[in-house]
Amino acid sequence: MNAVIRAVVRTAANDYGWSVVGICNGFNGLIWPEQTQELTVENIRGILPRGGTILGTTNRGNPFAYVSEENGKPVTTDYSSQCIENSKRMGVDAMVVIGGDGTLHIANQFAKLGMNVVGVPKTIDNDLLATEVTFGFDTALHVATDAIDRLHTTGESHHRVMVIEVMGRDAGWIALHSGLAGGADVILIPEIPFTIETICEAIQKREKAGRSFCLVVVAEGVKLPEKDAMGKPFPPPQPGQVANAIGYAIREKTGKEVRVTVLGHVQRGGSPSPFDRILATRFGVNAVDLIARKEYGRMVCLRGGKIESVTLQEAVGATKNVDPSNDYVRAARAVGITFGDHA
Ligand code: F6P
Repeated sequence: MNAVIRAVVRTAANDYGWSVVGICNGFNGLIWPEQTQELTVENIRGILPRGGTILGTTNRGNPFAYVSEENGKPVTTDYSSQCIENSKRMGVDAMVVIGGDGTLHIANQFAKLGMNVVGVPKTIDNDLLATEVTFGFDTALHVATDAIDRLHTTGESHHRVMVIEVMGRDAGWIALHSGLAGGADVILIPEIPFTIETICEAIQKREKAGRSFCLVVVAEGVKLPEKDAMGKPFPPPQPGQVANAIGYAIREKTGKEVRVTVLGHVQRGGSPSPFDRILATRFGVNAVDLIARKEYGRMVCLRGGKIESVTLQEAVGATKNVDPSNDYVRAARAVGITFGDHA
């Protein structure tokens, strides 16, 4: 996100002579604009290699339905007109909104109310249909692949089943790509239903072939089968818990030593990869160019390696899931990876 901020500030100042203000903590900063700060080429120096955002963020601040607590009870307030008023008062002519599906949906609602908004797609899950890639995905993929490589060593030496949970709330892109890159034996994603028996069969087949360890990469958003290998129902899964549930079931069924690692937010932190810095920079520059051309209500995107744009309406309309018949899945199956299904 910092790479986008830097690109927006520099392009606005260098190419158009515009000034930029940074709204803090997502849309909350439009409701309570006290922390709004001018961003200049000078005061944002050094942010390119820094992960996160210098502006702060929140994923709990929908200004159209803001939930707070009054007398111990939740109260929902629509702050959208306050946001529009505040942005007018601050002299904001146009706004660049950086975010995933939820954030861009809110941006689209503001665009419909007449605000001059352009969107920049961000999520490590890479699940926005309108763009080939979102920035953040590549960095998360590097972290996940590095973790799989490290866990490979222990698994191999100790003859263990290593279960690694990666992020991906509704889509299995991080699991699929990191599993392929890290040489996983089993990849479990939300898009392909699996059974514990099929996973255990794959582990036992490897064992018979003289491979006494196994790497199982699990997307946090997988849907657990109704019952575990012993016929007991699985509890409703939560991110951070599915790998433990699956690891436990594998241990019960195979009797093998199992170790579980949940990577969690490690995947979202640290310095962004060169690919993400470059993509974010290109997105930021093109977002400002959209504003210069008064092409509001649009989101920048990557298509065929080029930066293009789509309407925010199109962008929020559909998520991008792994197609079980795509060539990544086909390649994975061809090199011997199982998805825990019967294919
Ligand atoms: O949507 C991106 C994502 O990183 C998901 O992969 C993950 O489930 C979620 O955000 C985590 O959100 P939070 O930081 O609010 O726990």
